[in-house]
Amino acid sequence: MKIQSIRGVKDILPGEIEKWQWVEDIARNVFRKYGFKEIRLPVFEKTALFSRSIGETTDIVEKEMYTFEDRGGEQITLRPEGTASVVRAYIEHKMYNPPSVVKLYYLGPMFRYERPQAGRFRQFYQIGIEAMGTDNPAIDVEVMTLLIEFFHLLGLKDLKLQINSLGCPDCRPQYREVLKDAIRGHLKELCSNCNNRYEKNPLRVLDCKVERDQEIAKGLPKTQDHLCETCKANFAQVQALLDVAGTPYAINPLLVRGLDYYTRTTFEVTSEGLGAQNAICGGGRYDSLVEEFDGPSTPCFGFALGMERLISVIPFDGKSEIESQPDIFVISLGEEAKHHSFNVVHQLRTAGCVVDQDYDGGSMKSQMRKANKSQARFTLIIGENEIKSGKYMMKQMESGTQVEIAADNFVDQIKAELEKD
Ligand code: HAM
Repeated sequence: MKIQSIRGVKDILPGEIEKWQWVEDIARNVFRKYGFKEIRLPVFEKTALFSRSIGETTDIVEKEMYTFEDRGGEQITLRPEGTASVVRAYIEHKMYNPPSVVKLYYLGPMFRYERPQAGRFRQFYQIGIEAMGTDNPAIDVEVMTLLIEFFHLLGLKDLKLQINSLGCPDCRPQYREVLKDAIRGHLKELCSNCNNRYEKNPLRVLDCKVERDQEIAKGLPKTQDHLCETCKANFAQVQALLDVAGTPYAINPLLVRGLDYYTRTTFEVTSEGLGAQNAICGGGRYDSLVEEFDGPSTPCFGFALGMERLISVIPFDGKSEIESQPDIFVISLGEEAKHHSFNVVHQLRTAGCVVDQDYDGGSMKSQMRKANKSQARFTLIIGENEIKSGKYMMKQMESGTQVEIAADNFVDQIKAELEKD
């Protein structure tokens, strides 16, 4: 019986994975420069961690979590995002001692039972970072600037940084009421989803994807006009620092995000090239979450980006650094040569060369075909004659030029040829 992978999940095969590794390497370098350290988190957690942090009335918690009871009767959920786990780990390991800004990043798979379509999967990968322990707007801007620098290193251009402020527990409840009053008159025109959200989560009406609702949303009261003095000053400072950093942005008053833990600054980076699922990255400030899980007061700021969406918009053409073909493919002709070349391959690898070989022995022609397929830069030919004469043949595959390599000093000579190439 043939078993296939599950809808909405995919394998990342050699040929594609090199792009992922290239992106991950650049991410690690940039994050290191800004002082972020990696944290590896479990793929599953207690369900309550996600439902309480992301919010009981969000789409993720209401309809998208992979939740099951384990054999011990515990309610478990495959993580739909990483922030909740970082907060749990931060408290569990008392990372707030001694007090300082803790800067963490993570990468790995997330799981959401969404309707699969282009750019939307049920298992997808995120790279995320969380800066924990300060409400200084400098960190908001540092993190957004880091992200833009990272995108530039990947060769991405047409990206839009959109920001908004959602206020704080002092001003948000009032805004919520003003918003509800304004929405009330439109309930008949709004979609059924918005009607459901109106009572429990009225801010989500602002970012409904239904076209007619979007027109209505544009006319609704904006968070910006209902911020308390502290949040207003904070948002002004974020904008001023973005200007200092020379990071272009646009204020989008309809940007509310799909997770409930946000306070003050929220942001998204979108790409025109992505169609309907155009958000590559989203994040913002969440100043109350650590406290809500019984940790000390710890304002935080972070983001997560979707790897599949990111990879799909990077212009990879001509990026030789993502290629992973061997330096040398070793061809051995005859039984004795096969034994002999085992040691040659071993010594070359020990010396740091990327080497592959033919394992089946076959004719020169068939082994050459394999060498071509491997896209190796060179082939090294070892037959009985070569062993007898003490000279191997090394061929540059693109030009066809051949050089003799003395068997008694082959590692140094081959390395010299590789360097010359
Ligand atoms: P999020 O907006 O839910 O935020 O997800 C972040 C990114 O993950 C999205 O912008 C998108 O690129 C990608 N993504 C989400 N769902 C899918 C999917 N089904 N298929 C493919 N890609 C997807 C968070 O997860 C927050 N934890 C971000 C954060 C960190 N906020 C503060 N710190």
